[in-house]
Amino acid sequence: MKKASVILDRDFSIGQVDKRIFGSFVEHLGRAVYTGIYEPGHPQADENGFRKDVAALVRELGVPVVRYPGGNFVSGYNWEDGVGPKESRPRRLDLAWGTTESNQVGTNEFAQWAKLADTQVMMAVNLGTRGADAARNLVEYCNHPGGSYWSDLRKSHGYADPHNIKLWCLGNEMDGPWQICHRTADEYAKVAIEAAKVMKWTDPSIEVVACGSSNTGMPTFIEWERTVLEAGYRHFDYVSLHTYYNNSDDDTENFLARSLDMDSFIETIVAVCDAAQVRAKSKKKIMLSMDEWNVWFHSNEETARVTRESKWDEALPLLEDIYTFEDALLVGLLLISLLNHADRVKVACLAQLVNVIAPIMTQPGGGAFRQTIFYPFMEASKYGRGTALKPIVRAPKHDTKDYCDVPAMDAAAIWHEDKGELVLFAVNRETEDLQVEVDLRALPGMKVLDHSLLVHSDMKAVNSFANPGNVAPTKGQGGVVDNGKLTLVLPARSWNTVRLG
Ligand code: AHR
Repeated sequence: MKKASVILDRDFSIGQVDKRIFGSFVEHLGRAVYTGIYEPGHPQADENGFRKDVAALVRELGVPVVRYPGGNFVSGYNWEDGVGPKESRPRRLDLAWGTTESNQVGTNEFAQWAKLADTQVMMAVNLGTRGADAARNLVEYCNHPGGSYWSDLRKSHGYADPHNIKLWCLGNEMDGPWQICHRTADEYAKVAIEAAKVMKWTDPSIEVVACGSSNTGMPTFIEWERTVLEAGYRHFDYVSLHTYYNNSDDDTENFLARSLDMDSFIETIVAVCDAAQVRAKSKKKIMLSMDEWNVWFHSNEETARVTRESKWDEALPLLEDIYTFEDALLVGLLLISLLNHADRVKVACLAQLVNVIAPIMTQPGGGAFRQTIFYPFMEASKYGRGTALKPIVRAPKHDTKDYCDVPAMDAAAIWHEDKGELVLFAVNRETEDLQVEVDLRALPGMKVLDHSLLVHSDMKAVNSFANPGNVAPTKGQGGVVDNGKLTLVLPARSWNTVRLG
């Protein structure tokens, strides 16, 4: 059996995990909102039309923050269309996704849903067709207690208390030509700075996220971040990172190495932020908001077909990827990457939450099921909120089609000071079992409390309405701690959550 070793020490601390790295995303796209979180008339709908079964799954998943309302959608969105009496809200063409938006869910309903789902709203403003004025009005509408035009309008709409939304995205993917009214870096910097200024003047307690590049393949990647951050360093708190991993034509070995891209993406953007900090002569560090990440593109052809055949229909089944066991392993590896960069990544949003490239799938009028990727995310969110320790991993390495020196295993370790508990998340990338020795050094007296294991003989196995439990965690074999060393076996190609106390 191949062997690996890990050294963990309480003094090797990366930093406190910000729980917002377990965030997610709901866009007005496909069936995320309509027949996803919201379906009046559904047997499980509450008095506001929200599906209680879906909200319960969101609570189980554990998402402390949800980005809304887009995505590409936000760049053409008039937020005023989505407030006030539902019967007078306009039906608009959504140019981002080729559908019709009924506006039956808007800012207030989403804030209401967030309470039901036990989460906070991360709000994006439209810096495509709109700008600073609409953005500052929305902040006033959402956060000002009363006595002004927009706050009193909110009250007149039945929401006496402000929503107190603390985290705001300054537009979405503004570097992308597909974006409604996309901009050059200089143009974006100008509008983002002015928006940030007046939004913070309206409510100084908010934090703002400037758009970074849409992905690492953009021709302006890094130059965009440099321009935007150097122009507006003091106005911004975070810069966004977006990344999706394509599993439509990859071999498993190469696909499971793709988390190395996320490591280098994060480290590259940290370097750009810190260079901008020097230029700005600032004490402040810009933190990272990985506010769109996931596996995507299983559903490309189907989405193209549906859009072609049903253009402008409402709630079209778009981007409905069905995730395999292999995808769940990569999602686990990506979570490990986020945890191991907890010092700089303070916000991250699994894109998305329901039906659209999502861990939760629903049937209109019917049930809901957990996709394979639900499980590593749920476990990381449940057990990953503590101090991230830097694991020193020594493991055999291999090369793949696109990567060199890919380690057989990756791991993240979280120390829970309050409970005296240590949690190890680990993925074995190999096709054979891996024996791991974990040196617990300054963590004496530990024993294994629990080992949750996600493994399947078929890398392409999926969950479905017919077989919702096909891929689900089981109890692992745990391990033995002897003389300060934990020995355990990570089964071939598996995700493991090992709790010690
Ligand atoms: O999450 C789906 C889409 O991906 C978002 O609307 C956009 O921001 C990104 O390109």
